[in-house]
Amino acid sequence: ESKTPSSGYILALDLGTTGNRAFVFNNAGQIVGQAYKELTQYYPQPGWLEHDPEEIWQDTCWVMQNAIANAEIAPSDIVALGLTVQRETCLIWDKTTGKPLHKAIVWQDRRTAPLCNQLQAEGYAAEIYDRTGLVIDAYFSATKLRWLLENVADFDLNNVLAGTIDTWVLWKLTGCKVHATDHSNASRTMLMNLKTCTWDETLLEILQIPAQILPQIQPSLGKFGVTDKTLLGVEIPITAILGDQQAALFGHGCDRPGLMKCTYGTGSFLVAHTGAEIVRSQNQLISTLAWTQTQDNGNLKIGYALEGSMFTSGACIQWLRDGIKLIKTAAETETMANQVSDNGGVYFVPAFSGLGAPHWDMNARGAFFGITASVQPQHLVRAVLEAIAYQVVEVVQAINACSPTPMKRLIVDGGACENNFLMQFQADVLGIPVERPKMRDTTVQGVAFAAGLAAGFWDRYTTLVNQRQIDRIFEPEPARNNALANFSTWQKAVQRSLAWVD
Ligand code: G3P
Repeated sequence: ESKTPSSGYILALDLGTTGNRAFVFNNAGQIVGQAYKELTQYYPQPGWLEHDPEEIWQDTCWVMQNAIANAEIAPSDIVALGLTVQRETCLIWDKTTGKPLHKAIVWQDRRTAPLCNQLQAEGYAAEIYDRTGLVIDAYFSATKLRWLLENVADFDLNNVLAGTIDTWVLWKLTGCKVHATDHSNASRTMLMNLKTCTWDETLLEILQIPAQILPQIQPSLGKFGVTDKTLLGVEIPITAILGDQQAALFGHGCDRPGLMKCTYGTGSFLVAHTGAEIVRSQNQLISTLAWTQTQDNGNLKIGYALEGSMFTSGACIQWLRDGIKLIKTAAETETMANQVSDNGGVYFVPAFSGLGAPHWDMNARGAFFGITASVQPQHLVRAVLEAIAYQVVEVVQAINACSPTPMKRLIVDGGACENNFLMQFQADVLGIPVERPKMRDTTVQGVAFAAGLAAGFWDRYTTLVNQRQIDRIFEPEPARNNALANFSTWQKAVQRSLAWVD
């Protein structure tokens, strides 16, 4: 039976840091089925974090099957598949056996900080920034791949494939046939030239990464191949691949300069679209790819973005709950923060994995400052929430510094945007409205939109994003909370936490 595209469904996979999910969307853009599985986190040493690629793949299969069953549809009803992933995390595997040669090194992993320091000391920072738009940091994939090639024993380089999580899962989905990535994921490796959108030979030389092990870079919206028939009984076209932050940007309708979003997940990722131009920040934001698509005339349409990557935000709330057990549920943080009239003089620096934008200090570590005997647990919790918002202020200020007009609005998503105290405080300290949409799974929604548009299941991006509904707009009241005055004290705390470890 042949289906008209509009009668079918889109399957969207969101393979994130803490878990993997699959969603089924109908033609009206509604979610009709979903499944989620938490992912095991391996901490072999302090500051190191690994994921098991086999587990990611097994769980991808499991969530796909369960989301389809949950939606009460047949796999043959699915018109296209979109794939969005945690970025930078990378691995190498054996192309004959299909087995990973080591666990994947996760974006938060700091093991390659010494190699990054060495690259900096050798004077590569300006050249790497010019070619990739990135600051040298252990965050990006290149030094992780270098580490894997140096530390995994006994392999035949001619038989090795490398990739970020999208590349690994695409290869598995296509029955080991397609070794590719998209421009948004490739832009996070520190190996792609941001201007030419191809692997940069000079960088491959500097990092000693053989070109032959790298995937082919393709437009984010386009034809990546079909799922192997043995997986779901049918071949499903894979028509979009995006990094998760870029997928959220797409889902929020941020497709032009002046629009920005912040996802409050494990970390906070603030991304502002900058149009067809690469905008360079004087304040340590990175320039990156938003998404690409081949136009009707065959030319590549490239959208760029500025990004402030803040490594730790929601992870601090998780730490309050599971680490030091100060709270039982994440939701409690809102109640507790409202129980006190201010932070009691306490300031928190969320530098669990060093600091990302705009400080880029791999050696910073977390800290509480200003503790006195009158400090209550509520003050500590409030200080953590305030710090999450203050980090975003630093990044928005840096974006405003290179934008012709100041940004007017922040669109939000991610787990911690449920917290009304945090969102109101964020609006107060930014001095602009914070807009929270009803649909909070914007990452997966974005990649579903992208896959559906690329497959011709939907035809207009603007129609899709205009259907978005707003849950709440938090209007700023800068006088409240003494927010701005306290911001400068928080910045002082940040300065004291820099270069903490050697
Ligand atoms: O750059 C890392 C980012 O893509 C991770 O996102 O949502 O998996 O924490 P998330």
